[in-house]
Amino acid sequence: MGRMAVTTRAPGKIILAGEHAVVHGSTAVAASINLCTSVSILFSPGDMLKLELKDMELEFSWPIGKIKEVIPDFDTPSPSTPLPCSSETLKSIASLYEEQNIPEAKITLASGVSAFLWLYTATQGYKPATVTVTSELPLGAGLGSSAAFCVALSGALLALSECCELDYSQQGWLTLRNSELDLVNKWAFEGEKIIHGRPSGIDNTVSTYGNMIQFKSGEITRLKSNTPLKMLITNTKVGRNTKALVAGVSERTLRYPEAMTCVFKAVDSISKELSNIIQTSASNDIAVTEKEDKVEELMEMNQGLLQCMGVSHASIETVLRTTLKYKLRSKLTGAGGGGCVLTLLPTLLSSIVVDKVVAELESCGFQCFTAGIGGNGLEVCFSDNAQI
Ligand code: PMV
Repeated sequence: MGRMAVTTRAPGKIILAGEHAVVHGSTAVAASINLCTSVSILFSPGDMLKLELKDMELEFSWPIGKIKEVIPDFDTPSPSTPLPCSSETLKSIASLYEEQNIPEAKITLASGVSAFLWLYTATQGYKPATVTVTSELPLGAGLGSSAAFCVALSGALLALSECCELDYSQQGWLTLRNSELDLVNKWAFEGEKIIHGRPSGIDNTVSTYGNMIQFKSGEITRLKSNTPLKMLITNTKVGRNTKALVAGVSERTLRYPEAMTCVFKAVDSISKELSNIIQTSASNDIAVTEKEDKVEELMEMNQGLLQCMGVSHASIETVLRTTLKYKLRSKLTGAGGGGCVLTLLPTLLSSIVVDKVVAELESCGFQCFTAGIGGNGLEVCFSDNAQI
């Protein structure tokens, strides 16, 4: 009896408060969203490793012998020990996808393919398999699509290893134990490093454990929220460069250190207030509404401070103005300069209003999704072919 096939799903994330200021030592709060990336692995006979990116209609395949030549050290892989990929190995891995003719427009995928090849080989060695990826998350919009990919992939690879004690005869979605999730999170972080260089770790952590987390100077606290919050996420579809935006905030901080220190301190207080509010219980409609009012107010205050930092954008301002017409409050999420905007949808808000605001935003060329936030993290499902 062996584990041969598995499917996992891992959620994307939003930053509810504290982006940018977190880089300068303030607290940030992030939450999972119920849009996921899924990875299926099927070990198969033959001598090929295949990667299918369904949404992009891309397929890669490598002869196992070729992978062994390029990444030679994994005859006996050790999935229980997360390993960073050295820069020399990363360079050799590049030769594996250079031969695959990735279309020019999709070249940003190359680092994701490298992360795949590293995580697969370092945990499973040279087993032939077909790995299929599907995602509900837009790429490069600040919703944590790369982290969700790394978490779903690491989760699937570890679920098929001896590191996870799962009952694979069980039907439906399963969750891993905390120690197993810790291991998935560490491997996913190694994948994120290949994709992003120096990630903070917030995205893979939210995607692994789900729910909400507070993050300050690299220290992560998992929050216990008991009221579900619903957000409208508007993708402005304006591309942004996180690195340049972060650098812009640092330059402004050098020019006006005293003023910017006050801005960062204010953001820190907003994030802490938000964490407290999220964790208070609300047992009836009045209490829920009060809680949502405060969350909205803090989001609006944070947006004002993000404007102070210079990371808003004309497209973001259009979303803010449009939602405010319906008395709904919004803030950018992630790096800003375009990307996605969050609008809290209060529990008692009529669906007619939601439909109207979505129609107006979409008529501006934006793309809207409604998302539940603070839901499950990584989940695993063994299909019928999981046992032989
Ligand atoms: O857009 P994202 O999800 O990559 O968010 C970037 C968040 C920043 O605070 C701007 C940068 C960071 O590393 O925390």
